Amino acid sequence: MNINATLTASLHRQQTASSNDWEATFRQMALFDLAADMELGFFLSYYRNFAIPSIAATLHANAEIQRRPMKRSYDTAIVIYELISCGLDSDRGRTMLELLNRVHRNVPGSKDDFLYVVLTLLVVPIRWIQKHAWRQPTTAELAAASRFFTELGTRMNITGMPVTYAEAEVFFDRYEAAHIAPSVEGRQLMNATVQVFQSRLPAPLRPLAKQLISTMLDDDRLAGALGLPRAGRIWRITLKTGLAARNAIRRRRPLKTKAHFTPGDAGSTLYPGGYSLDQIGPVNVPSSPVPSGNELP
Ligand code: HEM
Repeated sequence: MNINATLTASLHRQQTASSNDWEATFRQMALFDLAADMELGFFLSYYRNFAIPSIAATLHANAEIQRRPMKRSYDTAIVIYELISCGLDSDRGRTMLELLNRVHRNVPGSKDDFLYVVLTLLVVPIRWIQKHAWRQPTTAELAAASRFFTELGTRMNITGMPVTYAEAEVFFDRYEAAHIAPSVEGRQLMNATVQVFQSRLPAPLRPLAKQLISTMLDDDRLAGALGLPRAGRIWRITLKTGLAARNAIRRRRPLKTKAHFTPGDAGSTLYPGGYSLDQIGPVNVPSSPVPSGNELP
């Protein structure tokens, strides 16, 4: 296989990285080596929450996603990429963690719901990469990604975070087996959010957005719960062929020297002149006059 020398050199570093360098290893993976697939994986993680009726009901009741689908989706991505780029314990990272803890203070989710949502950010992109990216994640990258989300969860006061990637997968699969189901709220959230994905597609592909998302999710039960059409064989083959062609090109190109995300920079029509961290976050922060008892501190 013909692989660009800069990619091979980075792969070697990602194979031999020390476990102490987990944050840098994960950053390199998410912003450079496997950036495009990681980003797609994050998109797919976001939809997955809508297939859990209790989580969908909470999101629907707060109505941020229906009212401001673009802002909600972009801000969520910004929070995640700020944490990855700057580091969990950097000043910007701390500001994002404060935002996360503030917005969830009155969110009535169980400990498992929170564990699940944080693990979607780990398991969904990794599985996508294992299936579709130009190369497999290295063992050091799997450990680094797992550590990153364990540390993130811990800073969100979620106890009992899995330590290894294998443990994360076991929890994730068990939770989904028990909880995925259709709901009116989940379908409405999906319908509101589909336009965000559409806006990133070339115009002729936009009417096919739901079919494309369903094919990428590649899970009939999940697609059914989200009210998406089933992914047929032809669609699966088309996606596989398209990604194989993309990967062949990708392997020949040098590793990018600039990440697709730069903290504070303009990256979307939402913040054309860039953004400051106080612009990020939901307009409607859940508030609860009666504490539910299982909220995060
Ligand atoms: C630890 C896992 C979680 C992460 C990493 C996470 C991530 C986020 C982020 C980044 C935001 C801010 C969005 C923005 O800036 O507009 C947010 C808001 C919110 N999250 Fe979470 N979340 C988690 C768990 C949950 C769970 C389990 C629920 C529901 C049971 C939930 C419900 C909400 C709600 C209601 C908001 C306010 C904005 C809205 O109404 O959509 N989150 N979350």
